[in-house]
Amino acid sequence: MTGSAPGKAILFGEHAVVYGQPAIAVPVQGVTARATIRRLSEGPPGSLRIEAPSIGFAAEFDEDRTDEPLQLAVKLAIRESGSQPQAALELRIESDIPVASGLGSSAAVTVAILRAVAEYFEASLAPQRAAELAYQVEQLHHGTPSGIDNSVIALGQPIYFVRGQDLQPMRVAQPFLLVLADSGKRSPTRELVEAVRQRRSVDPEAMDAAFRSIGEIADRARTAIEGGGLEALGPLMSANQALLQEIGVSSPELERLIAAAHEAGASGAKLSGAGGGGIMIALIDSDRSASLEAALQAAGAVRTIVTEVGR
Ligand code: PMV
Repeated sequence: MTGSAPGKAILFGEHAVVYGQPAIAVPVQGVTARATIRRLSEGPPGSLRIEAPSIGFAAEFDEDRTDEPLQLAVKLAIRESGSQPQAALELRIESDIPVASGLGSSAAVTVAILRAVAEYFEASLAPQRAAELAYQVEQLHHGTPSGIDNSVIALGQPIYFVRGQDLQPMRVAQPFLLVLADSGKRSPTRELVEAVRQRRSVDPEAMDAAFRSIGEIADRARTAIEGGGLEALGPLMSANQALLQEIGVSSPELERLIAAAHEAGASGAKLSGAGGGGIMIALIDSDRSASLEAALQAAGAVRTIVTEVGR
């Protein structure tokens, strides 16, 4: 029994989304988290061993360890299924989504666990419900997450997201290609969100004006994506990047990748996620994606991923 979930990228609106502005995020199918449950031939009945070799985690499931994200995810998943393990089980988690890079690895792992457990116990799990449960685990990671990561990953579709509102899947009029590049520098979401909060406490007017401008860009981008006006999208990404720079979450590594993307013909490029490091995304015509990937690698990207949005 395997459950899986994709990665994600925020196209528009990171950080501003924490303060109530709209944002747009898309699933990234080229990377996945998978959780597999199997019965063990020996072991105490009702026990569940959690193994996540890629992050060096191995422990028995303990429902009192709600301070640990994997343990909490398993607890919520079992409770949601309405069943109790009878046999001795193993839950193995594998993910090729780089951690702390803006690709939503934590939310993807949680959704994969929720799906594997639901399947094992033959319980139903609606995407909206998976998003709600995964939000509880995201709170352990980030404190005050907006909820965009768990939402787009559970839904597996591009979304227009406003904190506290129902999920709004987006219709993509004309598919488009993004190249993602990992700067290789970790991007601790909690620290960057906190740095933005502190800057806002010093200069609330300037920060709120930047957030509002970012929200307007996200709204214009929604119109472009849903209406097929893709020529507007690249410039909107670059305008969003300028505001992210202004609020202080870009970094020299990201700037270098963004400059390289423009030189290689991208019509827009920006950081994606918390910033400080992590990934950048660039919009490109399909016949130029290979040369853009090469240019990004030459500019320091440790990994590039091509993803098509809307197909
Ligand atoms: O976890 P990341 O790197 O995808 O960043 C999350 C996006 C923020 O807007 C910075 C925080 C949030 O909770 O939405």
